[in-house]
Amino acid sequence: MDESRMTEKLRQLLTAKRFKHSLAVRNEAVRLAQHYNCNVQKAAIAGLLHDCAKDLRKRQMLQLCNEFGIVLDDICKREKQLIHGPLGARIAKEQFEIQDEDILEAIYFHTTAKEDMKILTKIIYLADYIEPGRHFYGVESIRAIAYHNLNKAVLSAIDSTIKHVIAKGRLIHPRTIEARNHILLYEQ
Ligand SMILES: [Fe+2]
Ligand SMILES: [Fe+2]
Repeated sequence: MDESRMTEKLRQLLTAKRFKHSLAVRNEAVRLAQHYNCNVQKAAIAGLLHDCAKDLRKRQMLQLCNEFGIVLDDICKREKQLIHGPLGARIAKEQFEIQDEDILEAIYFHTTAKEDMKILTKIIYLADYIEPGRHFYGVESIRAIAYHNLNKAVLSAIDSTIKHVIAKGRLIHPRTIEARNHILLYEQ
């Protein structure tokens, strides 16, 4: 399936606002990939599709997870916004014919991040955070370093996310902690 067909198919699955965000993440991911010598085509597709499961109804998400055999841990059961990463990767595979493991991994982990991320996974995580439509507190300082130090920018995005999640009294997924520790220990 070529990218323009994917784009039209994606449009059917998302709200107008989310579709616009997806295109913005695609474009930001392409710029980051060019800058960091990562595969630009993979970045475009992963950025485009990263939220393909996000606008499904909660019931539909759980039903699809059940059908696909996606086992949800207790944290994902409680924090249902975390489900759209793993489920999105599966929908990308089944409905958008994506076979590439790098793309599928980037989609799978774009919400929680993970320990020892590949460069494409970092790029999608960061692009999702800094695309021009994002206006939350602290985004400017991360935008400022995104094109200078990828690991530092990803670490800052993880830190802000953790603080935000704590402020809301929500659960933090252990993968997010593992992602942070891995960068601090081995990638600084
Ligand atoms: Fe997302
Ligand atoms: Fe997103």
